[in-house]
Amino acid sequence: MTSRWWEDFFDSDFVEGFSAADLAIPGDVAFLQARFVGHAPTVFDQCCGYGRIALPLAHAGFAVTGVDQCEDYIARAQRAADDCALSATFVRADAYQYVCPMPHANAICWGTSFGYLSEDSQAIAMARSALWSVVPGGQYVVEYYALPHLIRTFEASRTTAIETPSGTLTVHRTFSVSWSDGVLTQRWRYEREGRASSERVGHTRMYMPRELRDVLLRAGFESIELFGGANHSEFTDHSSRMIMVARRPYA
Ligand SMILES: C[S@@+](CC[C@H](N)C(=O)[O-])C[C@H]1O[C@@H](n2cnc3c(N)ncnc32)[C@H](O)[C@@H]1O
Repeated sequence: MTSRWWEDFFDSDFVEGFSAADLAIPGDVAFLQARFVGHAPTVFDQCCGYGRIALPLAHAGFAVTGVDQCEDYIARAQRAADDCALSATFVRADAYQYVCPMPHANAICWGTSFGYLSEDSQAIAMARSALWSVVPGGQYVVEYYALPHLIRTFEASRTTAIETPSGTLTVHRTFSVSWSDGVLTQRWRYEREGRASSERVGHTRMYMPRELRDVLLRAGFESIELFGGANHSEFTDHSSRMIMVARRPYA
């Protein structure tokens, strides 16, 4: 896996390609609201992107801190929050190291923002930053793709055409798997109005639920619950998403 590939991957093309493809936000926000704990309604959004989930949570009344490495995404999210006078602070930093100065009642890592390097130690480091960013008893909710479903429905390529204010954006995605490393590689090729615009390559660890649970346990979390999606369903081989809710121990 190329080191720090995400520094190039996440750009404005990705925002249009990703947000247009995603219809799940209201269900995700309702799930989180129902799960969140603590008297103080505070949320740390680790790898918050442009605020896709953080902003609806702030609109729902949570005080949010979001961290992301992408300067453009952080600026967009902060502008959107300030325009609506929301209680939300967005910080540009490396999530492997960033720990909130004041611990929050809840933390999330949404939309497959985890497992970007092949070493378990890196994923554990990111989870540990979340551990120290929540109060004892606080929760860390991680959302990822569901590997059994991905394998069952595997497509080697997919093309999506998205209508944007600046014309049609066509996203060609190809997928390949390294079984020996347990890594899924995605190549995103963008075309604007039929003209090639950019190409990006990203990698994610292919976690079975038990493997992701082990990462969270090794980071220091406990009481880990598994869901098959934001509708609180049981995880099955038909679940298209995997959600884990982990708790920071009291002592
Ligand atoms: C797939 S996007 C998801 C964004 C957001 N969680 C959502 O659901 O819309 C992954 C995000 O993780 C961020 N990211 C990846 N690695 C990071 C790191 N080491 N530190 C901070 N942000 C990171 C990227 O910049 C990108 O915005």
